[in-house]
Amino acid sequence: MVSQNQLTYLKAMGIDAWQTRSSVEAIITVESEVELQSAVQSIVPASSNATEAIKDDVATLDWQTLQQRIANCRACGLHTSRIQTVFGVGNPQADLLIIGEAPGANEDKQGEPFVGRAGQLLNSMLAAIGLQREDVFIANILKCRPPQNRDPKPEETTKCTPYLDRQVALLQPKLIMAVGRIASHYLLQCSTPMGRLRGQRYQFRDTGIPLIVSYHPAYLLRSPQEKRKAYEDLILAKNLIAEVTEAGLTINAKASQ
Ligand code: URA
Repeated sequence: MVSQNQLTYLKAMGIDAWQTRSSVEAIITVESEVELQSAVQSIVPASSNATEAIKDDVATLDWQTLQQRIANCRACGLHTSRIQTVFGVGNPQADLLIIGEAPGANEDKQGEPFVGRAGQLLNSMLAAIGLQREDVFIANILKCRPPQNRDPKPEETTKCTPYLDRQVALLQPKLIMAVGRIASHYLLQCSTPMGRLRGQRYQFRDTGIPLIVSYHPAYLLRSPQEKRKAYEDLILAKNLIAEVTEAGLTINAKASQ
């Protein structure tokens, strides 16, 4: 049932209030993880000595030290054109980690991910499922802005990956949601069209942390007719988080018996 509050937020997102039960239920019918994972290739990026060195360096860092390391990173050429690094924002104890592609011009200026119009839409979308920006953690694959917002280069993503991996290890989110084609394809190491990837449950590398994908808010600004599907993805996110929480409680209850 959609509450009055959610209706207001859906309206702000530009989504009509009506919804068919079956469309939402269909999307939350999660296929078997084994079946889905078999469609996803190996997701470990090609490593280099530099990447290995970063991986070793960050392996035991705490949140604050990791933040400092990223701020001082010069591992790839992007450090020459950035204003500042964009570590991520939100609650370090968040259940939901949202991963985008890379900072844009506004993010580079402000040092925070998703602060432009796309960021405002992301905030409205989160509000539609009862979450505030401060409740989740938002990060990007790349911590520096690629010039002219071009797509990330493989050597940039490869070198930046240990930072994201360490963020995930420290956050231990209940769910990761990749937004947009670049982040989704990179995290799942596939090139399957977004329309076919969304609505299904994957996992982040071999961590067991569930991962789903959705459209990038900037794409939704250009294609508002897809906002309904993005809303369905958020409902799926909410349900998966509840499922993981429930499973955790069950395990804890068993352990304390
Ligand atoms: N697009 C992204 O993927 N990330 C941002 O932080 C901003 C725009």
